[in-house]
Amino acid sequence: MAILVTGGAGYIGTHTCVELLQSGYEVIVVDNFSNSKPESLKRVTEITGKEMKIYHLDILNETELNEVFIENKIDAVIHFAGLKSVGESTLIPLKYYENNIVGTVQLCNTMRRHGVKNLVFSSSATVYQPIVKVPIDETATLGPINPYGRSKMVIEEMLHDLVDSDPSWHVTILRYFNPIGAHESGSIGEDPIGIPNNLLPYISQVAIGKINQLHVFGNDYPTIDGTGVRDYIHVVDLAKGHLSALERIQAVPGVNIYNLGTGKGYSVLQVINAFQRASEKSIPYKIVDRRQGDVAVCFADTTKAKKQLDWQATRNIDDMCTDAWRWQQQNPFGYVDVKETTIASHH
Ligand code: NAD
Ligand code: WQD
Repeated sequence: MAILVTGGAGYIGTHTCVELLQSGYEVIVVDNFSNSKPESLKRVTEITGKEMKIYHLDILNETELNEVFIENKIDAVIHFAGLKSVGESTLIPLKYYENNIVGTVQLCNTMRRHGVKNLVFSSSATVYQPIVKVPIDETATLGPINPYGRSKMVIEEMLHDLVDSDPSWHVTILRYFNPIGAHESGSIGEDPIGIPNNLLPYISQVAIGKINQLHVFGNDYPTIDGTGVRDYIHVVDLAKGHLSALERIQAVPGVNIYNLGTGKGYSVLQVINAFQRASEKSIPYKIVDRRQGDVAVCFADTTKAKKQLDWQATRNIDDMCTDAWRWQQQNPFGYVDVKETTIASHH
């Protein structure tokens, strides 16, 4: 089986490529490297000892994307390529709608033209209306409150319309909760550009001494210790969820939607503690105001994925922090090559 992985050089994409290659799939990656570096794919090959076909292209470029389908016999597509920063999406919404929605339109058009009708799509827990009822199952009301989330919801609706129009499509939508951690080798992981938006990479950069302290956004939520609670999931568990989805994609007709999370929630302070244990570093932090748009508690009901995909997360919060820390220590500058860092340190 040959799998086209869009956005394969990114955080979740690289971890999924490793699992695919180790399970004997042939992998073709397309990425425009807008939020990643080619080095990440070299690392995937180092870990697995297997080569992938790599195309440096933008999925908005339908002509180039078409070539990929001409040159390769593709059985299914895992579609990660997209922009994902909630904050940035409020500043440049059109870029988000164009890249995420138009990109997916181009991809589906190209797939249709070549008779490739198996698609696994990366959606997000962000599509759910921020409500207080947890755990959240797949039937919960949708109502994203930012352009990024709305771009994901529109894509989901579009995929339903596509399948309604042509039932020979098989589409699986995976709604991720909060992916963190890294491959146990420590050679691939999350490599955000600039100051991280998300909790884990931020904590990790405080631990390594790049940032002085963490700002904890609010301690007056109705939670165990007042700080926000989320469903953190190890990125390798998440990657394996894609393989389970892929194996079953032909078995069920239409669009199938699954939450991928652990079903457990941890507060910001609990995560800080877990990271301190894993790294044996202290994480200085300061409580500041709530961040706009944040909810108190968000975690998944994972029953459907367990039952229908025969998948569940096996790694706990300590594993997630240990693996994130190994990646951070082995790659203090992310995916920069040694030469670049040596030059930088001479200035
Ligand atoms: P990432 O930014 O690390 O990976 C996305 C990859 O897609 C990058 O390598 C980027 O260069 C590429 N890309 C973006 N636009 C492209 C385009 N037009 N053409 C070709 N390549 C393009 O992000 P990630 O964390 O690996 O997320 C992967 C997917 O999962 C995204 O769709 C994201 O919205 C979704 N998701 C992520 C999270 C999370 O917290 N990381 C949570 C829920 C959903
Ligand atoms: C987690 C908790 C913060 C940073 C986002 C997207 C979601 C999905 C995953 C893509 C919250 C607190 C954070 C900091 C803090 N991505 N925090 N200080 O907001 O749950 O989800 O990433 O689809 O769509 O919205 O993740 O890691 O930003 O925050 O106190 O510096 O950590 O308030 O309680 P979030 P996060």
